[in-house]
Amino acid sequence: MKVLVATDKPFAKVAVNGIKEVVENAGFELALLEKYTDNSQLLEAVADVDAMIIRSDKATKEVIDSAKNLKIIVRAGAGYDNIDLAAATGKGVVAMNTPGQNSNAVAELALGMMVYAARGLFNGKSGSELKGKTLGIHAYGNVGKLVGVIAKGFGMKIAAFDPFVSAEAIEADGVKVYNSVDELYSNCEYISLHIPANDKTKNSITFELLNKMPKGATLVNTARKEVVKESDLVKLMTERTEFKYVSDIAPDNAEELLSKFAGRVYFTPKKMGAQTEEANVNAGIAAAQQIVKFLKNGDKTFQVNK
Ligand code: 3PG
Repeated sequence: MKVLVATDKPFAKVAVNGIKEVVENAGFELALLEKYTDNSQLLEAVADVDAMIIRSDKATKEVIDSAKNLKIIVRAGAGYDNIDLAAATGKGVVAMNTPGQNSNAVAELALGMMVYAARGLFNGKSGSELKGKTLGIHAYGNVGKLVGVIAKGFGMKIAAFDPFVSAEAIEADGVKVYNSVDELYSNCEYISLHIPANDKTKNSITFELLNKMPKGATLVNTARKEVVKESDLVKLMTERTEFKYVSDIAPDNAEELLSKFAGRVYFTPKKMGAQTEEANVNAGIAAAQQIVKFLKNGDKTFQVNK
């Protein structure tokens, strides 16, 4: 059996070594495709593999169709919007993610970006503190929950909205629950986005919603660029000259935003949230272990295309 690690944005070396060990201990072969520049390289690399580990790499229908022996794809991470699930299901390929494995890294970055925004992108001028400010966590999954834990250490007041998590579970963490996004945005100076990108959430962060945020508000996006309606963000930031947007995923109109709203917007050069040695090791090795368990015992825990 051959397992391919296809990562445009490579894992740390220690993680690749760990994956190799898990794969080889199971008696399988590991192939590595890193920093590829053209989709044709990916199509060639998948031709004879039984399993593949990816990050934000796109597992399109074309990729899946080109992988004649493919039985399983594991997205080493949380969001699996980069896998064509219908194509995978159609070919009987199991798709999985590794929930929770890189969450702490993303949560730490979210708080780091909040500090960066509060201090005027380190411009040398007097900024503000997070202590005492209200933070709205939009979606209380693995990352959202950890953002709350860390933000508490900063002395922030924490609230959350998540229709898929019970109010009791959120309140048990000492977090205030709002029953609508409108209420969350109306009451929070900082919003940290942790929603996945899907048909329901794409373009769901609109002018109307963001405009409910109090004066001096900051939107922090370590989730997906697609959830924010870009034209609305331009309109909002034009009208609200105090509003800040910091994101780990540069939007398509990044240049426009950077030139129009310099000093109030920031984008990391590459998606950096999960880019720590620890997260790479956790997610990469979990992915390898899930592949071994599936190929050897048919274990489908964490399957997302059921
Ligand atoms: C995830 O969904 O797990 C994060 O967005 C991390 O993505 P990455 O593995 O491409 O850094």
